[in-house]
Amino acid sequence: MKTAFVGKGGSGKTTLASLFTQHLAEAREPVFAIDADINQHLAAALGAPEEYPATMPTLGEHLPLIKDYLRGGNPRISSAESMIKTTPAGAGSRLLRVIEDNPIYDTCVRDIGGARFAATGPFGEGDLGVSCYHSKVGAVELLLNHLVDGTGEYVVVDMTAGADSFASGLFTRFDLTFLVCEPTLRSVGVYRQYLGYAKDFGVRLAVIGNKVSDADDVLFLREQVGEDLLCCFDRSGHVRAAERGDVRPITALEPANLAALETMREALDTAPRDWARYQRQAVHFHLRNAEAWANESVGQDLASQVDPDFVLGPEALERPHQVMQV
Ligand SMILES: Nc1ncnc2c1ncn2[C@@H]1O[C@H](COP(=O)(O)OP(=O)(O)OP(=O)(O)O)[C@@H](O)[C@H]1O
Ligand SMILES: [Mg+2]
Repeated sequence: MKTAFVGKGGSGKTTLASLFTQHLAEAREPVFAIDADINQHLAAALGAPEEYPATMPTLGEHLPLIKDYLRGGNPRISSAESMIKTTPAGAGSRLLRVIEDNPIYDTCVRDIGGARFAATGPFGEGDLGVSCYHSKVGAVELLLNHLVDGTGEYVVVDMTAGADSFASGLFTRFDLTFLVCEPTLRSVGVYRQYLGYAKDFGVRLAVIGNKVSDADDVLFLREQVGEDLLCCFDRSGHVRAAERGDVRPITALEPANLAALETMREALDTAPRDWARYQRQAVHFHLRNAEAWANESVGQDLASQVDPDFVLGPEALERPHQVMQV
């Protein structure tokens, strides 16, 4: 099951993505956490050593490896260079499981506190708003478009704040998106903006109230977002302690906040899945990108990369061409 944490800057996306990941890891569930934010803080929030982000290999710097591996023997993709962030999987492509050994994971994925972890990599000043930033995040879209995850296996993505998520199809790649919302008008404003995009693509949203202090805060969120409010996190001494360097085990989180994590997990576990629709949307965004910029930039008609008979999902894993994986 795939989930993303989105919402206004500073609302608590990284904090809640980290708590949710720790909660799953503590229950010994297979969980793969990905930091896709411009500011890379998820590793630290998960309790990685301070020097970790600087020494960690990133997805963004290994795009050629990622593309070459995923392309596999797909005859529709002539080279890694012609593969763009939206290129969908097809017959011959290599598919990924949440937990397995493969050259991409061997290079870019590490264990932090029982969770698997990868990062897109830091973004320099010059990356912002230009293709470089989007191509780094594109690594995540490529992984998700080739990943077959089962129930009881989790992918947790910490996303960037604001509208950057809509520059590609990434925001449609999740079974359930957790929108973190403080009890403020500005945070609710970001929810409404997200809702507008989400509706057009059938993206399922659950609002997680955060930094809630009292009943008035809960009432405000309930009035503003209605049925979309799944649960609320209180202002947390546990989180504050971690900010002071006093990192405590997830089992020591306040009981009400632990219950909220469990509610989120149940909501994710029961989110409906439709692999055919998932594939259709991947193709939709690929064709859109091809037309908007990629055909010209690559010098090919990238619509030819689409395999009309292919549907990502458990059945695709069982096809004979997958057996020859490394
Ligand atoms: N429930 C909570 N209780 C107390 N403090 C919290 C809580 N949630 C988040 N915070 C604090 O709020 C600040 C912002 O949180 P966080 O970095 O997780 O937000 P973010 O949405 O990821 O921000 P950005 O948009 O910069 O990535 C941090 O100092 C964090 O410790
Ligand atoms: Mg963050």
